Amino acid sequence: MIKTELCDMLEIKYPIIQAGMGPLSTNEICIAAANTGILGLISSSGLFSSMYGPQMYEVLTKSVGADPDIDQTDLLREIYYKVQRETKKSGGIFGTNVMVSAELRGGAEEYIKTMLEVREADSDMEKRLKVIVTSAGDPLPWSETIKPAGLTWFHVVPSVRAARRCEKAGCDGIIASGHEAGFHTAWDPVHTMTLLPAVAESVKTPVIGAGGFCDGKTFVAALALGAVGVQMGTRFLATKESSPGFPDLWRDTVIKTGDMGTIVARGMVGPARYMKTRASLILAELTAERTPGLYIGKADDIFSTDPEIMDAELEGFPATYAGDEEKGLAAAGECAQRVNDVPTVKELVERIMKEAEETIRDFPKNFIVQ
Ligand SMILES: Cc1cc2nc3c(=O)[nH]c(=O)nc-3n(C[C@H](O)[C@H](O)[C@H](O)COP(=O)(O)O)c2cc1C
Repeated sequence: MIKTELCDMLEIKYPIIQAGMGPLSTNEICIAAANTGILGLISSSGLFSSMYGPQMYEVLTKSVGADPDIDQTDLLREIYYKVQRETKKSGGIFGTNVMVSAELRGGAEEYIKTMLEVREADSDMEKRLKVIVTSAGDPLPWSETIKPAGLTWFHVVPSVRAARRCEKAGCDGIIASGHEAGFHTAWDPVHTMTLLPAVAESVKTPVIGAGGFCDGKTFVAALALGAVGVQMGTRFLATKESSPGFPDLWRDTVIKTGDMGTIVARGMVGPARYMKTRASLILAELTAERTPGLYIGKADDIFSTDPEIMDAELEGFPATYAGDEEKGLAAAGECAQRVNDVPTVKELVERIMKEAEETIRDFPKNFIVQ
């Protein structure tokens, strides 16, 4: 069995984090993840999925048997109670991903407040709803709120500079996310092979790798590059429990995606990696034509970006829900090309850990040290 500092820090069996993947629901994946002995994450950005139309929000409300008009923070509470109930027997550990970029500040404050209230009111919640993973912004302004709350705090970074901000903010772990990762990517991106060791060499805080990890071999590579574990998103898209949070067409597109199967274009909150579909190729053409700065690391903002581009996700995600292959847009990382089956979360995690052990055991067969 492979154990790392991440296992001790979070009291989990395997050093793997199931990534937050909004604006969709990861509730069912999170339950399965926590029950398997890895960290499961609820995606709080799913709470503003009503902007994509009623269908995506309804997936969330239905999953907890709530009224379709329920307020976002009440819905978040219901999600916590459901995850708590369904992981009680295993004692699984779970947490929340909160995007803290400037545009999402208001929502982030509300979600964090709700999380803290739910923990304060219940000692089992306090013990098991123990992690917050912030992303897409500067961690420093959140330090005063998060640090005194006794949460284990990880922040997602695309650079060494951002990792140093995390140390200043007092984060307990840093998730270094490379350019091959699914959905939101950095304006000036670096791939995992360079980013992960660069971050691990620059900070004292434990580092977790994200972007491209999907099996035993890549897991072992993360450890070799200095990580104490991995955060995986794309791989969990193709699991039995990804439904109903993710529609069948999303999962089928992951399975179908092959060599050179993803593309980066302007998403609603910056550059985003989608699987190549008719809609994502059109969006990339539009991006190259109307906001070409994206491809040379020049950030724009939502107010100056062409409305047709900003609307693409609003139309493309619901189209994927409706099973419309022509108009459907679906995000995933480069490693979708290496994902070819739909196991349960438990089968997947156990397979990865077994493969990782075999990789380490067989490794010396590949070379001679002279
Ligand atoms: C469909 C999808 C949605 C995502 N949504 C979010 C999100 O809401 N917040 C966030 O911090 N990261 C988000 N991510 C990034 C993941 O949290 C994770 O860091 C990434 O998937 C890791 O790379 P991988 O896809 O190669 O496994 C998303 C990724 C995917 C594939």
